[in-house]
Amino acid sequence: MRFTVAIDGPAAAGKGTIARAVAARFGLAHLDTGLLYRAVGARVLEGLDPVEAARALAPADLDRPDLRASEVAQSASRVAAIPEVRAALVAFQRAFAARDGGAVLDGRDIGTVICPGAEVKLYVTASAEIRAHRRWLEEGGDEARVLAEVRERDARDSGRADAPLRAAEDAVVIDTTALSIDEAVAVALAHVSDRL
Ligand code: C5P
Repeated sequence: MRFTVAIDGPAAAGKGTIARAVAARFGLAHLDTGLLYRAVGARVLEGLDPVEAARALAPADLDRPDLRASEVAQSASRVAAIPEVRAALVAFQRAFAARDGGAVLDGRDIGTVICPGAEVKLYVTASAEIRAHRRWLEEGGDEARVLAEVRERDARDSGRADAPLRAAEDAVVIDTTALSIDEAVAVALAHVSDRL
């Protein structure tokens, strides 16, 4: 069976939680594509050339414990604006999406570029303030700074020329600003059920 669920949206909108819940509920494989860009971003912070790092990316690079750090997230969003970096990561993502048994991919350009033919497309969003607040609850630090970083990443991801962050025309938009995690997951599961 080929069944692809594409989940896109800005940082900390809840797409990772939703993607994991959809994968678990329907027995689909899950790929967090942000990890690919974070792994490249981490290598670049170590001094590697971004395009070479993307071309040489290996599965072990995705297991690094430091990929969640905020400086890695910012580096990821800088390297993600380089077309050759994105091009180097396309084949892996498409092969993952085409695997037998179906797959869920979450990221920024899954419904628009990587899997335009996905059976289900969700665009998960929320206000910048609530997304920063959720990130701050998880990671602590200075909330105003977390909000500034969220806004900076939003602007870079939405403003780049190649594969900018945006909802596909046929995506179902889920705004999680006023939803609990359980409510957001329930809405997403219902949409996927409808398409199965
Ligand atoms: O989703 P996550 O916050 O881990 O993504 C880190 C960065 O990787 C994003 O800010 C974005 O610039 C980039 N990214 C992307 N395309 C994707 C997934 C992530 O450009 N499909």
